[in-house]
Amino acid sequence: MDIDRLERFWIMISIAVLAALMLAIVYSVRGFGVEVPTDVGQVDPRTARETEPFNQPGVRQVGPGHYEVVMLAEAWRFEPSEVRVPAGSTVTFRLTSLDVIHGFRIPNTNVNLMVQPGQVVEATHRFNEPGTYHLFCHEYCGAGHHIMDGMLIVER
Ligand code: CUA
Repeated sequence: MDIDRLERFWIMISIAVLAALMLAIVYSVRGFGVEVPTDVGQVDPRTARETEPFNQPGVRQVGPGHYEVVMLAEAWRFEPSEVRVPAGSTVTFRLTSLDVIHGFRIPNTNVNLMVQPGQVVEATHRFNEPGTYHLFCHEYCGAGHHIMDGMLIVER
């Protein structure tokens, strides 16, 4: 084997490895429905409570089978900490933080947000199965971090 052929061989191996890794990324994003949080807007944490839509935290219907859940995160609770939607609903969670960085995670869904003061974030998920879904803060936010949680109840 001459040097050129060896070099070509290893270039091909490198391209094949890169292609395999790219395919793995595309497959995992498609397969698990990964969504990157987009920039929804900003709100001043000092006046967020008086600012739409955070002046009325809670659940509201925004379309057939589509609900919006507006939530405030603050040390160490979510407001509201319990929300109810009917089974089969598509739910858009919209949050901001009033103080420090919090997290917002619902296991077994793709809802996984970092909730920063000043920033509005949202995530959407369809809940087909009735049941109680635990939601919690997964960014360390101080002494009460471990008690910062809530419930999403999907009713039949
Ligand atoms: Cu809020 Cu940890």
